[in-house]
Amino acid sequence: MLAEQTRRTTLHLGPDPAGLAEAARLLCAGGLVAFPTETVYGLGADATSDVAVAGIYAAKCRPAFNPLIAHLENHAAAAAQGVFTPEAAALAEAFWPGPLTLVLPLAPGATVCELARAGLASVALRVPAHRVAQDLIAATRLPLAAPSANLSGHVSPVNAAHVREDLDGRIDAIIDAGGTQVGVESTIVACLGVTPQLLRPGGISRAAIEAVLGRPLAAHSEHGAPRAPGMLASHYAPRARLRLDAASVQEGEAGLDFAGQFENAARVLDLSPRGDLTEAAANLFAYLRALDREDQAAIAVAPIPTTSLGEAINDRLRRAARGRRA
Ligand code: TXA
Ligand code: MG
Repeated sequence: MLAEQTRRTTLHLGPDPAGLAEAARLLCAGGLVAFPTETVYGLGADATSDVAVAGIYAAKCRPAFNPLIAHLENHAAAAAQGVFTPEAAALAEAFWPGPLTLVLPLAPGATVCELARAGLASVALRVPAHRVAQDLIAATRLPLAAPSANLSGHVSPVNAAHVREDLDGRIDAIIDAGGTQVGVESTIVACLGVTPQLLRPGGISRAAIEAVLGRPLAAHSEHGAPRAPGMLASHYAPRARLRLDAASVQEGEAGLDFAGQFENAARVLDLSPRGDLTEAAANLFAYLRALDREDQAAIAVAPIPTTSLGEAINDRLRRAARGRRA
C-alpha cells in the first residue's frame, strides 16, 4: 500500500458476509477500509503495520504526530496491548463494548505499531459496540487503527455518503451500514497516573464514568499542552464561521437550533426540537455539513445545555468555531 496519494478505486461494500470478507482481505493486505462504529465511521488499517497506518495519515492528510485509537474485539485482546489499572479494568467492564476509549501504558509485547501511537509509550484502546465493526475485527484478527473517516480538520462522518465526500478515490473500500447511532466520538479517558483523566468528552458522559470510578475524573485543561494530541483547537472546522450562543439568526447566516429557540425558520436546522441531547449529538455533524452547504458567511448556533452529552456537543462546537478552514 503506497502512502503516496495514488488515486484508487474505492469499493462500496455491504455489511453482509461477502462485503466483510472482502474488507477483511483488503485490511490484511495493508489496505484502507472505512467502516461503521456506533459513534462515527472509522478509517481502518492494520494497527500492527507502520506502512498500513501511514496510509491512514496520507489519505486523511492528517498531521503525523496525532496518535490513533486501536479497535479490538474484546477486553482480553485489549489487555495484550495496554496495562490495565484496577480502575481502567472497571471502566472496561462497565462500558465495553461501547463508546469509551482508554489510554493506557503500552503492555510488554504489545503489537500496535509505533506510528499508530505517534511514538508515545501509551496506547489508546477501544472495543466498539457496532456489529459490523466487531465482525470486521474478528475476521481480520487484527487490532484496527481507525481515526474518524474524514479529511483532517473536517467534521466526522456519520454515514457512508459523508465518507465518500472526503475520501472517495483515496481509500480501498467503504462498508455502508447506514447512519451511526451515537453521532459523536468516543469518550477518551487516560489511566496513566494516579487519577484517571478525561482527555475528550464523548458518547459516554462524565457522570456515568465518575459513577463507576466512585470519584471525580481529573479535568482536561483547555490551557497548556493537550494531553490528547489530536485535541487541537482547530480539529472540527466547517467553512462557515460559527457564532455560538446566538439569540437569533441574522441576515447572511444559517442557523443551528436546539429545542426551538430560533423564531425565524429559513435555513435553520434544529438538532432536537424536543430538547433531547442524545438526539442532538446524533444530528450534530450531519447538520453542520448541511448548513455549511448553504454558503452563508456564518452559522448562528443556539445555546445548548452543557449537561450529559451536551458537554461533548459544546466541545465540538467550540473547536469548530475556532478552527475554521480558510
Ligand atoms: O469514536 C471514536 O473514537 C472514533 C471511532 C472511529 O472509533 N475514532 C476517533 O478517532 O475519534 P480519532 O483519531 O479521530 O481521535 C483519536 C483521539 C485523538 O484526539 C488522539 O490524539 C487521541 O485519541 N489519542 C490517541 N492515542 C493517544 C494517546 N496515546 N495519548 C493521548 N491521546 C491519544
Ligand atoms: Mg477525528
